[in-house]
Amino acid sequence: MPCPSRSRRGAWRLLCLLCCSFFDAARGQIRYSVLEELDRGSFVGNLAKDLGIDVISLNYRGLKIMSRSRRQHFQVNMNSGVLLTSEKIDREELCAESPSCTLNLELVIDSPLEMYRLEVEVLDVNDHAPRFAGNEVTISILESAIPGSKLPIGKAIDPDIGTNAVQVYKLSPSEHFNLTTGINSKRKKSIELTLTKPLDREVQAVHTLVLTAIDGGNPKRSGSTNITINVIDTNDNAPVFDHTVYSVKLPENVPLGTTVIQLNATDLDEGPSGEVHYFFEKLVPMSTQNSFKLEETTGVISVQGRIDFEDIKFYEFSVEALDKGPYSVAGRCQVFVEIIDENDNAPEITVTSVSESVPEDAKPGTVIALMIVSDKDSGDNGQVVCSVPAALPFALQNPYNNHYSLILKDPLDRETTAEHTIIITAMDKGSPPLTTSTTIKVQVSDVNDNSPKFTQPAYTMHVMENNVPGTHMSTISATDLDTKENGYLTYSISANTTLDSFISINSENGKLFALKSFDYEEIQHLEFLVHCKDAGVPPLSSSVPVQLFIHDQNDNAPAILLPPSQTGSTSIEAIPRSAEAGYLVSKIRAFDADSGYNAWLAYDIIQSRKDSLFKVGLSTGEVRTSRSIRDQDGSHHRLVVRVKDHGEPALSSTVTLSIAITENDKEIHNEYFKHPKSDITISNVNLYLVISIAFISFIFLVTIIIFVALKIYRASSSMAGCDQALCENNRGSWYYTQSNSYKVYLGKASQDILLFNSQCPPQPGDSINKRLTLTTEAPAQQSVDDLLMIGDNKVRSC
Ligand SMILES: *[C@@H]1O[C@H](CO)[C@@H](O)[C@H](O)[C@H]1NC(C)=O
Repeated sequence: MPCPSRSRRGAWRLLCLLCCSFFDAARGQIRYSVLEELDRGSFVGNLAKDLGIDVISLNYRGLKIMSRSRRQHFQVNMNSGVLLTSEKIDREELCAESPSCTLNLELVIDSPLEMYRLEVEVLDVNDHAPRFAGNEVTISILESAIPGSKLPIGKAIDPDIGTNAVQVYKLSPSEHFNLTTGINSKRKKSIELTLTKPLDREVQAVHTLVLTAIDGGNPKRSGSTNITINVIDTNDNAPVFDHTVYSVKLPENVPLGTTVIQLNATDLDEGPSGEVHYFFEKLVPMSTQNSFKLEETTGVISVQGRIDFEDIKFYEFSVEALDKGPYSVAGRCQVFVEIIDENDNAPEITVTSVSESVPEDAKPGTVIALMIVSDKDSGDNGQVVCSVPAALPFALQNPYNNHYSLILKDPLDRETTAEHTIIITAMDKGSPPLTTSTTIKVQVSDVNDNSPKFTQPAYTMHVMENNVPGTHMSTISATDLDTKENGYLTYSISANTTLDSFISINSENGKLFALKSFDYEEIQHLEFLVHCKDAGVPPLSSSVPVQLFIHDQNDNAPAILLPPSQTGSTSIEAIPRSAEAGYLVSKIRAFDADSGYNAWLAYDIIQSRKDSLFKVGLSTGEVRTSRSIRDQDGSHHRLVVRVKDHGEPALSSTVTLSIAITENDKEIHNEYFKHPKSDITISNVNLYLVISIAFISFIFLVTIIIFVALKIYRASSSMAGCDQALCENNRGSWYYTQSNSYKVYLGKASQDILLFNSQCPPQPGDSINKRLTLTTEAPAQQSVDDLLMIGDNKVRSC
């Protein structure tokens, strides 16, 4: 309390005098009371009066104040005998906190020496306001502190005592704190703040209070201090995610490092307790943790592995957020990552069964292969359509779901295509679509559906007569488009006993062999069928006509028919001497069993002199006189006529004519009759004739057989009829040879050539169209074509 104002000081002094000073003379002790803080010279007590000494004697006796302390607080006014203060007395300085403050003085008076004890009690004045150690007090308290917790606070200091000392403390209103008093360790009263309600740093981190101490003086004095209470954070908040569930859609196959989502958890705590770190919850499978990377500090989830819709369509995992404070509590959230399908899988074709080989006669609709088509993608990306090229004889059927069957659409033909390569394409409906194809190879197995085919529609063979038996004449060859046994061919000749003795065929290679040595004079032409058969079941066969032409060799020497003569013997003719030049002496008739050039005979006279009387027609064989007979010509002539064919080499025969020149015609007759032809000679001629007829008949018979055989196989009967008619008409064997464009029939006597256009064969009843007579002028080597130029009407017009 401040010093009282000057105006009130007089009243205080009076009160002190009345109430506080007294004199105990009986005990020789004087007691005064004085207020502290009085001005210097303030009245304390009337010593003179109280000691019973008059003021006048005081002057000479003297009065001294003896103090034990060096400082003199009082002085005595010798004139009045009054005790005054010599300075301001500060009770707090003198006695501090003691409840009573008494200054003991000794008074010494001389003459006579007397000693008195003087007690001056210094009375307290409220001159101090309560004061705290500082204006600001800062206290920390854990936010976890429980209600009832106490926070000691230093008391306010008021040097005054008694009621002037601090009487009450007041605290500014607070929700959380109360001011209480307690007893401290020194068994003194203390003040403290008591927590009445739990703190939450996150709500209010700092509490500011004002504590006021008030004393009991009059007027009251007070002092205050600001108390700042810092609430110390405890890790009492778990991190909390923005959302409890995070959902995100993610296309598959995204590049590594792609951010999926950023999680965000906040922790209201401060410092490390508020630093949030993110972790996969322990139970999250490793596969998920391999696919996604969770940035520990930022909560960013990014892709770090392959995201494949076909493996996992949906990820669901928990993420924990932990702070770094002590005893951290985790916050949790769920993350749903839905993977969106991309068309990244091509369809797959699985062929479950396939017939590697299909018979070519398989019916359309036959199932060739079964397959399952799949696509790992979903939705349109997994919708698959299969196709095969339309050009192939195959089609696809889709009986159900993703099952396909490859069936035969059109008939097969192994001979056209023995193997089909079928490319099956599967395409999904994604955008862009993906395709897969698979190749199925189907072998078309053979069925015996092709008969053997000969390389030629007909075969013509030529062989020279007198061939060595076993000669290979020709080869008949056929092919079969089928394979294996269906194409394994065997050859045979149509069963015919006559043929069998002539010809054989190698059943395996179709080689035709002559079994015999042919004789052109016996047989010139054979016609037969060769069959070819495959080994299929059932077998198929074909036939081809074969013509065999036997060609003539000059193996027959001319035979002389007329004049009749015994072998090597001579024939006798007689001519009259009067015969003119050109007289026909004899006509030599010869024939050659061969044909063509080999049967074309020429006559000449051996050892003929230049002026020879006789000449012979080169081709006619007529022996005539070349001039009139002279007298000097002998009556007997011997003439050797040679008949030679044009074969290579040529063969010849001779006949010897014995010619007698008679003087008259009668003689001739005589001569003729004189030398009648012997029976033997005649029979020799007959023998020739018989042989000839037999030979001709044989050839005729063979011809008939051939034609009959031909008739069976050949529709055309005209040719056969024609040949037959020709043969009948001419009553003989006619040998023909073939030139480039004509069939030339040469008469047996070799002077006659019959012409027929080969394109226009003789008709039944035809007469010989043209008979050409070969003349001696015809050169030996002349070709048949040249020969045909002789005469005017060479070719019969059709
Ligand atoms: C996390 O959430 C808090 C509170 O909502 C916000 O202040 C902060 O910016 C967010 N952080 C991120 C990275 O989104």
